[in-house]
Amino acid sequence: MANVTVIGAQWGDEGKGKIVDWLASRADAVVRFQGGHNAGHTLVVGDKTYKLSLLPSGIVTGTLSIVGNGVVLDPWHLKAEVEKLEGQGVTITPDNFAIADTCALILPIHRDLDALRETAAGKGKIGTTGRGIGPAYEDKVGRRAIRVCDLAHLDDLDAQLDRLCAHHDALRAGFDQPPVNRRALLDELREIAPFVLQFAQPVWKRLHQVRKDGAKILFEGAQGVLLDIDHGTYPFVTSSNTVSGTAAVGSGLGPGATGYVLGIVKAYTTRVGSGPFPTELEDEIGQRLGERGHEFGTVTGRKRRVGWFDAVLVRQTCAVSGVTGIALTKIDVLDGLEEVRICTGYRLRGRDLDYLPAHSADQQAVEPVYETLEGWSGSTAGARSFADLPANAVKYIQRVQELIETPVALVSTSPEREDTILMRDPFMD
Ligand code: GDP
Ligand code: IMO
Ligand code: MG
Repeated sequence: MANVTVIGAQWGDEGKGKIVDWLASRADAVVRFQGGHNAGHTLVVGDKTYKLSLLPSGIVTGTLSIVGNGVVLDPWHLKAEVEKLEGQGVTITPDNFAIADTCALILPIHRDLDALRETAAGKGKIGTTGRGIGPAYEDKVGRRAIRVCDLAHLDDLDAQLDRLCAHHDALRAGFDQPPVNRRALLDELREIAPFVLQFAQPVWKRLHQVRKDGAKILFEGAQGVLLDIDHGTYPFVTSSNTVSGTAAVGSGLGPGATGYVLGIVKAYTTRVGSGPFPTELEDEIGQRLGERGHEFGTVTGRKRRVGWFDAVLVRQTCAVSGVTGIALTKIDVLDGLEEVRICTGYRLRGRDLDYLPAHSADQQAVEPVYETLEGWSGSTAGARSFADLPANAVKYIQRVQELIETPVALVSTSPEREDTILMRDPFMD
């Protein structure tokens, strides 16, 4: 298996960026295939910290980095992120960075609509990142999106703009907003077009060539399976498919290309935004894990909700996403706890359940059944070999592996790139 697909197996922020950056030096190309700049991936290399939202995490190692067609792309954000990274010494040129010419664009009207809807929803809000992701995907599926390739045809955009504006003007009127200012939108697009177009190309073709040459491709997922539009905690999800199968659709390769599916799994659970969270901790331990794990959103700065490891959820996400093996991250955050808990099942209105039910009300109502394990007093922080881990930490990892019915391939013990224990090389498997 030459290729590896990295996906989040919880509600996002599992440490995908760190693992992709670590694996990127073994890959010939890194491809983002869904989501947009709602993602926030943090990479720590020596004394430098990189925060990426749209660019593939391979960009930092200089690996060919590709934004696939499944991504929704905010061109103004793209420019800002490229400039920020260049300011940190990262080289980004058409030689090492490409964007699919079929990506749908996120426009200012999408951001507006995201915010208007969230404000109007009050208590029922999703808690989105406010970056226009949902509205942009809606327009893509509604066949009225402006795409990257349109940036080279801005004088022929009238029919598409008619369709787009007819839809948005009606929605905006419902929120007492003025109609879309078409001229201003076109002017803004004209200004940004050359920047985006220098990277635009049929990336499916480039990736096919890369494959023919026998090169290794690393697919980088954003968000997590529990935020998947089909398999997640609907409606408290994002607007794309985050499961591994999307890697093929979102890049222009067939399903055989995805290779080894590496699920990134945090040693406990976090969630940003609204929605059910069976093992959520609203006590001192939750507070402590949140502080030790620096659980604040990369994109919005929001405090992440924190809870015990939920094996029911991860067993399910590994199953629906065909996970071959997992990378267990942030085990060091559990260091020093007297005992650690793992959720092994649910009780729902007097019944035992070994999966997360589909309905949001049932997901809210499930009560976790816990198994308690002894904690460890030694430290796992910075460990680079399995032998360096305290015996009880090893027991914890083994129990997780058993309960989720999926092997552990990597363990991450700090934010730093090199603090990673390799048990099975996903590229070699
Ligand atoms: P992503 O969205 O999945 O890429 O994850 P984020 O970058 O949003 O959140 C993960 C956070 O945990 C980042 O701040 C990482 O630097 C940090 N991190 C990743 N792996 C580890 C680890 O093993 N231990 C600790 N303590 N922090 C980690
Ligand atoms: P990474 O890639 C965690 C959440 C938002 C909200 C829901 C919908 O860093 O793991 P959206 O803006 O996508 O319409 O918001 O999804 N969300 C994330 N949570 N990590 C992410 O990405 C997320 N991207 C979106 O908080 O609950
Ligand atoms: Mg994140």
